[in-house]
Amino acid sequence: MKRKKIIGLVCGRVDGNGEILLKEALMAADELGIGSEIIHAMELRVKPCRGCESCTAAMSKGLEPKCVIKDDDVKWILEKVLLEGDALILSAPVYHLRPNGYFMCISERMLPIMLRNQNILNKTRVGGLISVGGGDWTAPALAMLNIFLQHSFVLVDQIQIQFATQPGSVLKIPGAIDRAKLLGIRIAEAMTQPIEKARYLGEDTPASCPVCHCNVLHIPGKLSEVICPVCEVRGTVVSKGDESGIIWNSEDIKYPRFSEKGVKKHVGGIRGLHQKFWQNDREDCINLMKKYKEYGNIIRP
Ligand SMILES: Cc1cc2nc3c(=O)[nH]c(=O)nc-3n(C[C@H](O)[C@H](O)[C@H](O)COP(=O)(O)O)c2cc1C
Repeated sequence: MKRKKIIGLVCGRVDGNGEILLKEALMAADELGIGSEIIHAMELRVKPCRGCESCTAAMSKGLEPKCVIKDDDVKWILEKVLLEGDALILSAPVYHLRPNGYFMCISERMLPIMLRNQNILNKTRVGGLISVGGGDWTAPALAMLNIFLQHSFVLVDQIQIQFATQPGSVLKIPGAIDRAKLLGIRIAEAMTQPIEKARYLGEDTPASCPVCHCNVLHIPGKLSEVICPVCEVRGTVVSKGDESGIIWNSEDIKYPRFSEKGVKKHVGGIRGLHQKFWQNDREDCINLMKKYKEYGNIIRP
């Protein structure tokens, strides 16, 4: 039988802390008979999305969505991560509170591949996340990594390591290496089970979203109503005496933002907006835009 394989995507430095943690997880999985392949984003050419909307425009016209950027490796990375392999472990450093630019560029470029391969939304594979920070300014990082992972993988474990500065310093952080190893074991074990049995095994808090298990919450109005900004799962804060907790909406848990139903609804909405623009608004908008084009005052180095 073919050996199952984890794809490990490192977005931080070559030989950096995130790579060490990822390799520790992969080595632990290896001991359980699971192979791996590691992709180093920083070694490759990674460019940001230019916002040309070619992919969404093609989708709206019933054509094949493609990215216009051909001179980098993001398509290759995304195809490896999203279409190959039996599981993903994604490792990214924290820069300015959130995952670094390499991760962000890869993440925002997933649209054409996802639109061409909508079966990935069925989430038939498991995934894990490793986020590493040099301090403790890390609060939104795992939530943002989940924006990518939740499209296509069932989250089994995630870790936020803090206070790892210079490459290798993570080796001196108590518990960090063992925790990464445990993540690898959990992913490997989950890979040997049917996907329906995959469960989240990482840390939780009383405020953790039941889907991405992050506790970064959006409060749009009343203080008692919360929403996970990643998964769009709504919750109501309830208190009894000194105790309080969150009751989460069970329909939202079944159909979070990054479920087949959630994404298809969103994509349908985008298609409608594009069609409305071309049919009704385009000429008018082009005329109205003239004064902004003429305004100038753009400076360059
Ligand atoms: C531009 C930049 C911004 C950073 N911002 C943060 C931050 O906001 N919070 C934090 O905890 N660490 C921050 N760090 C530290 C890195 O997360 C830390 O060095 C980490 O170990 C890098 O992972 P790597 O070795 O896998 O590349 C920052 C580092 C850089 C280069």
